[in-house]
Amino acid sequence: MKSSELKKKYIEFFKKKRHKEILNSSLIPEHDPSVLFTTAGMHSLVPFLLGQKHPQGKCLVNVQKCIRTQDIDEVGNPMHLSFFEMLGNWSLGDYWKKEVIEWSYEFLTKILKIDPKKLHISCFKGDKDAPKDEETAKIWQQVGIPKDRIYFFGKEDNWWGPAGKTGPCGPDTEMFVDTGKKSCSKKCKPGCPCGKYFEIWNDVFMQYNKTKKGKFESLKQKNVDTGMGVERTITILQNKKSVYEIETLAPIMQKIKELAKIEEPDEKQLRSLRIITDHLRASTFILGDENSVVPSNVDQGYILRRFIRRAMRHGRLLKLKENFLEEIIKIIIKINHDDYPLLKKKQDFILSEIKKEEQKFRRTLEKGLNKFNKFAQNKKISGKEAFLLFQSYGFPIEMTKELAGEKKIKVDEKAFCQEYKKHQEISRKGAEKKFKGGLLDASYETKKLHTAAHLLLYALRKVLHQDIMQKGSNITSERIRFDFNFDRKLTDQEIKKIENIVNKKIKQAIPIVRKEMPVKEAKKIAKSDFIYKTDMVSVYIIDDCIEICMGPHVKNTKELGKFKISKQESVAEGIRRIRAVLE
Ligand code: ALA
Repeated sequence: MKSSELKKKYIEFFKKKRHKEILNSSLIPEHDPSVLFTTAGMHSLVPFLLGQKHPQGKCLVNVQKCIRTQDIDEVGNPMHLSFFEMLGNWSLGDYWKKEVIEWSYEFLTKILKIDPKKLHISCFKGDKDAPKDEETAKIWQQVGIPKDRIYFFGKEDNWWGPAGKTGPCGPDTEMFVDTGKKSCSKKCKPGCPCGKYFEIWNDVFMQYNKTKKGKFESLKQKNVDTGMGVERTITILQNKKSVYEIETLAPIMQKIKELAKIEEPDEKQLRSLRIITDHLRASTFILGDENSVVPSNVDQGYILRRFIRRAMRHGRLLKLKENFLEEIIKIIIKINHDDYPLLKKKQDFILSEIKKEEQKFRRTLEKGLNKFNKFAQNKKISGKEAFLLFQSYGFPIEMTKELAGEKKIKVDEKAFCQEYKKHQEISRKGAEKKFKGGLLDASYETKKLHTAAHLLLYALRKVLHQDIMQKGSNITSERIRFDFNFDRKLTDQEIKKIENIVNKKIKQAIPIVRKEMPVKEAKKIAKSDFIYKTDMVSVYIIDDCIEICMGPHVKNTKELGKFKISKQESVAEGIRRIRAVLE
């Protein structure tokens, strides 16, 4: 079975079980200040897991593009990918353990035809926060998994979430397939790093909310959140040894091998081939996203820069000629554009951004490596040296660390950070922390700024022109960052006018009304260039400022205080960025 077929079968299966398909949302979560990228399908559903009503009902299913970079250093091993697709189905206070386990078993054994004898299951073993999940184990036994293939593990293995510090979470049950490899030891069992057992699906019972104080409170609504990795599952179904051998990845590796004239790669070369494949695939999807960012030194732009520059360094190890990225990116787009047509539409933009970054780094890569080798003669890299490599040669600190690791020497990262902080307004650490950190922080401050962002778009349309569209936004509890299509600097007068319009709406104390309606109807009253896969959407109405949006928002504009634009800048050709605060 191929990836496209698996995705189709999964959606069809759950649609037959009364699920509605929801959008494959942006890799860069809008209105979610605490994560840089979408790492699982549940990100866009947090308000609904916490009890808000979803316009499409209680049973949902989708394919979600995801990026995970916590363990970016593991890329290069046979199973690890930074970008992947996740299949998920959700119950928002509807079905519970029995249904989801029965469906998981049915899908695995009847639709995917995985031999039930190969299935191994893990469940939560219990601790002070939640009891041992005997109920789940019992249901697995009832569907046909014998007791000796059901294991109990602790929080580190069988608990999912919250993705941030607070939010919905709960015990989970994971499904493993025995690859048939020999056991590495008597203790070998699911989760063992030898890879005999391969995890493909995770059913999470989201019945708790972790509070700021670290307590696990029971949620009013018991939810199910599941995630099946497309690439991993296909690897099993095609009986391959590595995710890089399946049809969505193998042609990329093949192209790189051809360009590098490598037939039988040795272990080191194989690692470089995988890193280039993975990183360029992730870069293509970030640049080809509906909320794409460009390489930079902060937030998502920094991660993108790391992907591209690391791919280039590994390209150099394989002695690839200059400007090799373009040819590989074209293959990645070709493999994926049927499912992600935006990649094709944005092909020129993707290639030009990649080229720009490649040219920028090409100029300094060689010199920087010479400099590094000189520093490395002292058997360590000081903070100042690492910072020089970063500042003058564009070496992300992770790259310096990787280079040092290859020579078995250390980098004084702490001193590097001190240097960095001295020179940069936003430190990389902050961005990384935010990235590893929490999920949608639907705090009151964030909600207020989210509402203000609607009014900002409304005012931009009034003052600049009616066709202004949101091209990305990021809202923290302190500020709004809002990107839109406009090709020049705004005048002071325009800025003043925009602020006045928003502040007038705030003074008018307008109640915010949320309505659910069919997409067609919503698009008649709210401007949106989004393609909705769903029939129903929610619309937020603030007098004549009307937006299709999932929320959450405050109840009345009078709650907002005073709106102020703090900064404007250009982020890409034709795209301006405004930062604004509430005082
Ligand atoms: N959110 C869960 C996961 O990512 C399903 O594994």
